[in-house]
Amino acid sequence: MSRGLFITFEGIDGCGKSTQARRLERRLEEEGNASLLLREPGGTPISEDIRKVLLNPDNSSMAPENEALLLAASRSQLLKEVIIPHLEKGTIILCDRYIDSTLAYQGFGRDLPQEWLRQINRLAFELAIPDRTFLFDLPVDVALSRLGDRQRDRIEATGVNFLEKVRNGFLTLAEQESDRYIILDGQNQIEELEKEISSQVLRIIS
Ligand code: TYD
Repeated sequence: MSRGLFITFEGIDGCGKSTQARRLERRLEEEGNASLLLREPGGTPISEDIRKVLLNPDNSSMAPENEALLLAASRSQLLKEVIIPHLEKGTIILCDRYIDSTLAYQGFGRDLPQEWLRQINRLAFELAIPDRTFLFDLPVDVALSRLGDRQRDRIEATGVNFLEKVRNGFLTLAEQESDRYIILDGQNQIEELEKEISSQVLRIIS
């Protein structure tokens, strides 16, 4: 059986990627192509436990290196337990955030070296590079206003300058890998974005 398809959704907090990941899952189901929707950090019981530590606003003293290591640990568990076995079985995997979030948030946002981030995420780079990555780009103030007054998690709460660096980081990564990345205007209508994403994915499947 051929390897499954691996699609990731990326962008700053409030960009709308989670809504689109869920809509694509539904669309694929309607077309008779069942998929598996995952999120990062998370997706396995151990990874969900690590997520709680990572996002807990009480953990304000967490060092950036340890944030990156916990993310890599969560990802490694998800890869071994779910992503790799399912890709081998031919499953379509949709992942709400993946390795590019680490390169953008911990690399461009927290100024950790890209090379070290790639090393601690070696498993992902060697075994499971996404086939397509949808990047939802939009101005930071628009994204933050969408989040409204809801309680921010520890990483979201870092601030506007941080998210500006993350946004620009994602755009740089997309430029470096223009074959894999598809940049979308996160301010477009939800239905328009849905149509564009599903037509791109259905084209790959057929
Ligand atoms: P996410 O689940 O997308 O947030 P939400 O619950 O608002 O949908 O992501 C949680 C936070 O984790 C988000 O602020 C981005 C951050 N994050 C990183 O900093 N690096 C990473 O590698 C990943 C996967 C997430």
